[in-house]
Amino acid sequence: MARRTFIRGTGSYLPERVLTNADLARMVETSDEWIQERTGIRKRHVAADGEMTSDIASKAAARALEAAGMAASDIDLIVLATTTPDQTFPATATAVQAKLGTGPGAAFDVQAVCSGFLFALATADSLMKQGLFSRALVIGAETFTRIIDWSDRGTCVLFGDGGGAVVLESVEWDGPEDAGIITHHVRTDGTKSDLLYVDGGVSSTGTVGHVRMEGNKVFRHAVTNISAAVEAVLQETGLTSADIDWFVPHQANKRILDGVAKKLDIPEEKVIVTVTEHANTSAASIPLALDHAVRTGKAKPGDLILSEAMGGGFSWGASLFRL
Ligand code: UT7
Repeated sequence: MARRTFIRGTGSYLPERVLTNADLARMVETSDEWIQERTGIRKRHVAADGEMTSDIASKAAARALEAAGMAASDIDLIVLATTTPDQTFPATATAVQAKLGTGPGAAFDVQAVCSGFLFALATADSLMKQGLFSRALVIGAETFTRIIDWSDRGTCVLFGDGGGAVVLESVEWDGPEDAGIITHHVRTDGTKSDLLYVDGGVSSTGTVGHVRMEGNKVFRHAVTNISAAVEAVLQETGLTSADIDWFVPHQANKRILDGVAKKLDIPEEKVIVTVTEHANTSAASIPLALDHAVRTGKAKPGDLILSEAMGGGFSWGASLFRL
């Protein structure tokens, strides 16, 4: 018998304030038509003044706990993926630990930008398989609009704030291998960091900085790297894209989702698309899309889910799991 990790519940939260494409067209030279045609995005949510990443993360996590039928005190691990922490330190996960009142255990952040949720999931799953923790919250949460240069039309139309979470439980398992969290493939390439980065930081400028991106170059790498990661997880498990019930990708650009789905032969009706409603929420986008799939009744217990992401670093990856 070996330990295996299962997803017991999902939750998500979007800040109340909505910024539409029309609102942005009043701020920079852009149009609703351009944004929708090139990205699929219709609107994004923006955190209220004083609303922090830990607030968003805690709300998403509380909903995931409710869905799992668990209390905060049941949780002994929080892994939070974020690029926009409340403070340089301590980890935002510890603020979530305090806000929710989770049980004694560990809470820490993972930084892999848009791929952060997949890195956090792989980290939590690995620790739990070793038997170090038994019930975890894995969260992706961002106040990404706080690092946006609102005069740069090439980036300001693309991002939004939000959070999503899953509750994991680790159990002794002697059932089939393709149950619960099945496998992960995560990679980075630090030589491409100049194509997507923030022009500030604690040890470089002493400032927070703003997002800078060469969008069309990132786009090309995204389709290639994501497809390679997905092929790696499929090859490892012997599963094929035809076995996938739902494709829950990182939500950066509808054209990237379509491109990857086409390359992998995944039909449009199996692809969960939420980028239209909340733009790119970085580490939050996969758990937001997953929660949407569950709460709309699309993804059901037992369904095989394929997730992928690509972001700054470059970082990228794919995960396969059954609900
Ligand atoms: O999750 C992290 C990973 N990030 C991504 O995956 C983002 C990847 N990249 C993209 O999604 C796309 O590259 C963008 C949506 C950012 C841009 O789309 P594109 O089709 O690659 O356009 P482009 O960058 O090649 O720009 C085409 C034109 C340019 O004008 P010229 O040089 O042809 O005159 C841009 O200046 O579109 C212009 N442009 C805009 N026009 C209106 C760029 N941004 C805007 C805008 N509104 N907001």
